[in-house]
Amino acid sequence: MQTASTKQELREQLSLYRGKRIVMVPTMGALHEGHASLLRQARELAGAEGCVVSSIFLNPVQFDNAGDLATYPQTPEADLAVCRACGVDVVFMPTPDIMYCADRSIHLEETHLSTVLCGAKRPGHFAGVCLVVNKLFNLVQPTDAVFGKKDYQQLAILRRMVRDLDIPVTLHGAEIVREADGLALSSRNVRLTPEHREAAPTIRRSLLAARQAYRAGASEESTCAGVQQALTHIPGVRVDYVELVDAETLHPLADATRPALLAVAAYFGDVRLIDNIELTRTV
Ligand code: PAF
Repeated sequence: MQTASTKQELREQLSLYRGKRIVMVPTMGALHEGHASLLRQARELAGAEGCVVSSIFLNPVQFDNAGDLATYPQTPEADLAVCRACGVDVVFMPTPDIMYCADRSIHLEETHLSTVLCGAKRPGHFAGVCLVVNKLFNLVQPTDAVFGKKDYQQLAILRRMVRDLDIPVTLHGAEIVREADGLALSSRNVRLTPEHREAAPTIRRSLLAARQAYRAGASEESTCAGVQQALTHIPGVRVDYVELVDAETLHPLADATRPALLAVAAYFGDVRLIDNIELTRTV
């Protein structure tokens, strides 16, 4: 496994693989088993001949909250060990100064899917994600990239970016990886208090109950209300949103038979957790 901290080093390391399949997994570090599953999927897609590239870059421009950026866990040594164990070929670990020019003046904004759910709550977040992923795609020129479905809206927006900007990369969505008690893996989980860690699987349990209710014919409002109620009972928890939307457009369901997404974001103390579940009326 090779590591690159400058764009030039990255270009040199990747030159060996041009013409082969290059599969990228962008990350912000603090790698956990969810990232490992993305890396293993990337290794499988790349095969023995191809190249798996991961980036570890805590992207400051996608943080709308300075406290969240300052407390985001950083574990570079452990991250490299995870990458090595998952068969990564090249790890790109730039600093913000290397990634961004101080007087950068190009802004990249998706204007439809980003206006709802987390986008409505975190102004500028998805513009920052689009900017960094676009830059990483330009630097690496991957044939494929793998993103987790926990950040469902992020994946939908990146698919739109790739489509609308004709970026020649195939995106793959990977299933959410969970703890045994159902909590979706997240780099932020380590910041939960013991009490909130114990209560956090309520998110998953309430989403499963909501899916059952929705399948049995519950209205959109009561499906969301069930999740809201389950979470607001927990001391120190503030629900940011619970919304049932069209799984493709992320906007309100125009047709109840279309695949839907029930998405939730909640603050456990000052730790913001998100999760989601895909729903249909008929299955
Ligand atoms: O999902 C993440 O960890 C980040 O948003 C990403 C895609 C690596 C961009 O910084």
